[in-house]
Amino acid sequence: MRIGILTGGGDCPGLNAVIRAVVRRSVKTHGADVIGFLEGWRGPIENMVMPLTLQNTGGLIQRGGTILKTSRTNPFKIERGPERILESMERNRLDGVIAVGGDDTCGVANRMHKEHNLNVICVPKTIDNDLNATDFTFGFDTAVNVVMEALDRLHTTAESHNRVLVCEVMGRHAGWIACYGGIAGGADFIAVPEKPLNVGELLSAIKTRHARGRNFSILVVAEGTRLENIGQVLRGEELDDFGHAKLGGIGDTIAKIIEKETGYETRAMALGHIQRGGSPTAFDRVLATRFGVAASDLASEKQYGTMTSLQGNKIKPVPLEAAVSQLKTLDMDLLEVAGVFFG
Ligand code: F6P
Repeated sequence: MRIGILTGGGDCPGLNAVIRAVVRRSVKTHGADVIGFLEGWRGPIENMVMPLTLQNTGGLIQRGGTILKTSRTNPFKIERGPERILESMERNRLDGVIAVGGDDTCGVANRMHKEHNLNVICVPKTIDNDLNATDFTFGFDTAVNVVMEALDRLHTTAESHNRVLVCEVMGRHAGWIACYGGIAGGADFIAVPEKPLNVGELLSAIKTRHARGRNFSILVVAEGTRLENIGQVLRGEELDDFGHAKLGGIGDTIAKIIEKETGYETRAMALGHIQRGGSPTAFDRVLATRFGVAASDLASEKQYGTMTSLQGNKIKPVPLEAAVSQLKTLDMDLLEVAGVFFG
């Protein structure tokens, strides 16, 4: 067996752990050769490859980012993109390719499988945890831990100054990072994209808290949160290859409203790409490793058109179609738990 592997979309901690696991399992158990395509789907389009061996993939479990680099390349926006991917598969004599990515990368994989018969298996990654048909994606737990640590730090400075601090977090159109991070970090209010933000409700939660002597508040706001009457706040007008707008700035907007309406001194900060950097947590290392081993096994069984998924505590293959058919938005039961601590 000869297989390729690529990492596409926004990076996240755990990608290197998947690469390491795919190579180890494929070489040692299946006697296979593995090559890496560089920079996501751009790799097979431009035929940018590197050999992957036990030697050059050792010691990667703790390393963030991806040794294969990544990009948000959409082959369906490039002239002869899909055909060039197939030519690259042929040129490298590959039986199949493992694509590690989120909804965009897996969406491309699904179309390539259905429309061009590409032998592809996906591994779900994204800090946003918004990929359907899997309980968790790797990268999410690490991002949540970054948010939790930030909130711990914000607490001490907010309390010292009697301030309201608004922490904007990533997650695109899903509130998973905001809700998990907010619960773990003891947030006094959490705003998520799934529920348009009612400013009156937010102000009353802060005022109630201050009225009982807690003269500071920590708020977590997901970047995709929409304000009732205003809508979504964007960092710019331009869209990426997959049609996504750059979200960001809602934290600032909300902070200004709070200061104006309550008179409480308020500051905002956005955690941004810090949430995607650094080493993976133990949970993400284990999940990424299990996914990598499973993906290699699926390739050896020629179970193409599938994605590895976590269901309960078991790793199971699911059809790619199920994974990309819809976005997995926040389980609103979690926001209810978080809400017990608002106000
Ligand atoms: O999908 C991961 C993610 O980090 C989102 O949470 C965020 O909206 C987006 O990527 C940022 O993308 P970029 O790295 O292209 O700015």
